[in-house]
Amino acid sequence: MEQNVKTIAFACDHGGFLIKDAVIAHLKKKGYEVIDFGTNSSESCDYPVYAEPCCRAVVAGQADIGILICGTGIGMSIAANKIHGIRAACCGDTYSAAMTRCHNNANVLCMGARVVGEGVALEIVDAFLANSFVGSYHTRRVEMLAEIEKKG
Ligand code: RB5
Repeated sequence: MEQNVKTIAFACDHGGFLIKDAVIAHLKKKGYEVIDFGTNSSESCDYPVYAEPCCRAVVAGQADIGILICGTGIGMSIAANKIHGIRAACCGDTYSAAMTRCHNNANVLCMGARVVGEGVALEIVDAFLANSFVGSYHTRRVEMLAEIEKKG
């Protein structure tokens, strides 16, 4: 369990609902507290509606990181990155998930349930959670991202 992460905000749309229960059960088994922002069925819904409150909880400090799942992970990541303070990464492999924590200080992991499937998704979650920001010259780059954000 990564020391800096205790509480995880979670949200998905109907595309992500396929693997929602497995991901949340996996997180809870690993000892994380999960705040669930829905969706709660496979009925078609709009991913921005679920991305926003999940990310706001991360920015507000109610959760340490967020996990968003839709069909591709792309819509969720675009929505998440509209919110100041969010660095969301859409990951389809464990290397990217590890590196985006280490280098980009990503605070939201996005995945596509129709892309990765349950087994790979859980491995991606583990890779994301097993790593943390390494700082050094990456700090400058992450600060530059915040500068772009400030320009609006
Ligand atoms: C829903 O069909 C799908 O468009 C959504 O889950 C996501 O993949 C969007 O980026």
